[in-house]
Amino acid sequence: MTMPTTSPRVLDAPSDEAPARPRILVVDDEPSMRDMLRIVLRRDGYDVMVAENGREALGVLERERVDLLLSDIRMADLSGVDVLRAARQMNGDIVAFMMTAYASTETAVEAMRLGAVDYFTKPFSMDELRLKVRQHVEASRLKQENVLLKRALNTSHSFANIIGRSEPMLAVFKMIETIARTNSTVLITGESGTGKDLVARAVHYNSMRRDQPFVALNCGAIPETLLESELFGHMRGAFTGADQNKKGLLEAAERGTIFLDEIGEMNASMQVKLLRVLQDRRFRRLGGTDEMRADVRVIAATNQELPRLVAEGRFREDLFYRINVIGVHLPPLRDRTEDVPLLAEHFLAKFAGQMEKAIRAISREAYERLMAYRWPGNVRELENAIERAVAVEQAPTLLPESLPPYVRPDGGGAMLEPVHDGSAGLSDFPALQEGFDLEARGEDFYRHYIGLALERSGGVQTRAAELLGMSFRSFRYYAKKFNLR
Ligand SMILES: Nc1ncnc2c1ncn2[C@@H]1O[C@H](COP(=O)(O)OP(=O)(O)OP(=O)(O)O)[C@@H](O)[C@H]1O
Ligand SMILES: [Mg+2]
Repeated sequence: MTMPTTSPRVLDAPSDEAPARPRILVVDDEPSMRDMLRIVLRRDGYDVMVAENGREALGVLERERVDLLLSDIRMADLSGVDVLRAARQMNGDIVAFMMTAYASTETAVEAMRLGAVDYFTKPFSMDELRLKVRQHVEASRLKQENVLLKRALNTSHSFANIIGRSEPMLAVFKMIETIARTNSTVLITGESGTGKDLVARAVHYNSMRRDQPFVALNCGAIPETLLESELFGHMRGAFTGADQNKKGLLEAAERGTIFLDEIGEMNASMQVKLLRVLQDRRFRRLGGTDEMRADVRVIAATNQELPRLVAEGRFREDLFYRINVIGVHLPPLRDRTEDVPLLAEHFLAKFAGQMEKAIRAISREAYERLMAYRWPGNVRELENAIERAVAVEQAPTLLPESLPPYVRPDGGGAMLEPVHDGSAGLSDFPALQEGFDLEARGEDFYRHYIGLALERSGGVQTRAAELLGMSFRSFRYYAKKFNLR
């Protein structure tokens, strides 16, 4: 695949449906005229079919696609005008030229009324005919392309933010379209950073529920004890601190879609309750006695292998089957490298725009590096790499030197880029003065230590969490938040 020079193409690019060679039907009872037109027009690159009378022409029109009709008017059986009338019925867009030795205004008017675009009086100049044929073929090709382009824009509009043209991504687009029309529960799987979140939203925003809420809940980021009340809501007094009734996200998503991200993190008791929602569409608020009905579509996502969790007894098998009604798998980026240039350009345009930098292209060498790298963090990692490159680039073209050092032709593999050199002096507290931002400062602090711990642990997350004296759950939450893995 060559590197794209135009803006990224999304779904259903019209070039996939490049028009076939234009097909011309010549109808004339004069053999020399038929032969002459056939030879000349074939030489000009058209597919030429010939018929020696009106009936034969109708036969061809019935069997074949004809883009342009070139017909004599006076023939023994049917007239050219009759042939034109029939041709119009088969193909409303057909381009038609009439030829005759006896110009009569009457037939000319009738032919024009039927949409013949021109009229040649024999003898005519072959060059003039060739020119007109070419002009009309070109015009109808453009018209056709516009139709295809419009159609592509319409169908892709809602996933315009999901870039890809590789086979597996085209299959994903098709799948999104199909499942958006249903109400089925969907399970989206794929490694971290492959676009599960994007796909979940695309399904919702293309579904009948698009005007209703899309509510996302990350089951891995919320402490287990809070997950239940978060999802189902609670009644006053249900637990210490529950000083008023509260709606859960399931209620917030009523008539819309609830997106249960990282479903593999759900604990056993929550799994039972979720199963109940999926089976009966019923639930209770925490501490509540009333049964509530839930009209929600459930989309779940995970980067874990649920069947393995099932085998290990960590995920209920019945719940797995309830969720996995329709599965959408997002392949890792390394298995669809043809999407890399497209994505890179997309992110380049995005970040160059955001940072108001006039970087228009990616150099060949930078492309080569991007293509050779394995992208363990998938699209998210690519997005971060381009963001960083755009930030540091001084040239009007992205050069390989601006890419993160780990994006090496050898495939690198170290997705962790040291955040700081480890010696950065964070021990001094900055002065509290105008413009101080505690939250940003706090984040810097977290980012620094999580990066450092990951480095020390060689990227082993459980070890890094231990080093920080942090639960694995919280660690993962922050590592993800700061894109450190
Ligand atoms: N095909 C794509 N086209 C454009 N951007 C994409 C694509 N896939 C992913 N991205 C971008 O990459 C980032 C990660 O995507 P997303 O959050 O959907 O991944 P995920 O599979 O949900 O990851 P995780 O398992 O870590 O939650 C987002 O910024 C998203 O916009
Ligand atoms: Mg996600």
